[in-house]
Amino acid sequence: MRKSVEEFASAFDDWAEEYDEDNDFEERRVMESLVVEHASPGSADTVVDFGTGTGAIALKLADDADEVIGRDISTGMLEQARKKAAEAGIENVEFGTGRFRAPNVAEADVVVTNLALHHLCDAEKREAVRTIADLGPRRIVFGEAMYFDDRNPVDPLFSPDTVYPSTVGHMVDAITAAGYAVTAVERVHEEAGVLVAERFDGW
Ligand SMILES: C[S@@+](CC[C@H](N)C(=O)[O-])C[C@H]1O[C@@H](n2cnc3c(N)ncnc32)[C@H](O)[C@@H]1O
Repeated sequence: MRKSVEEFASAFDDWAEEYDEDNDFEERRVMESLVVEHASPGSADTVVDFGTGTGAIALKLADDADEVIGRDISTGMLEQARKKAAEAGIENVEFGTGRFRAPNVAEADVVVTNLALHHLCDAEKREAVRTIADLGPRRIVFGEAMYFDDRNPVDPLFSPDTVYPSTVGHMVDAITAAGYAVTAVERVHEEAGVLVAERFDGW
């Protein structure tokens, strides 16, 4: 049975304090650095990080961007993110509540999201990609659980109770339907990777 947004928010609230320590595994580290590298914001850019969690990626991008806005459904995770920003003296990052369906942000130059969209089903991911596109970013970077190969792996990388990967094909379809071209595909694992999308303004 899929969890609701409220159930996810509560589960991440409970996990927030231990999240960074518990969630430190090779594929995640690689995805995080690929998302940061591909986001590559300019000094005048506003970056939005959806499902920012404890702000790992948002905080890494702050140095290069004008401002970074982190959005999440879990107040516990956001509290950790704010604490980390304060400890690091980072002032151009704002963390607040927002979800893919109701982002609580008006526009962005670059959008990133890492390991958050995979809590949605295929149809919801399509809708989320459209909502992100409506913010008008020139680039979107998706670090996600997604099937490059077998849809029913014997030993899944992520728990099927909480992570609902789509195929890479579904993600690419959703991105192109929203008016973006996929410009890079990074396969990190057969069930995880990074897709980079640039706004397609015509030939
Ligand atoms: C696995 S964590 C990833 C956090 C962070 N992006 C990272 O790479 O460490 C997933 C995050 O997505 C958030 N999340 C889940 N569903 C969401 C939704 N519908 N809208 C926004 N955030 C959501 C959770 O609260 C959680 O903080």
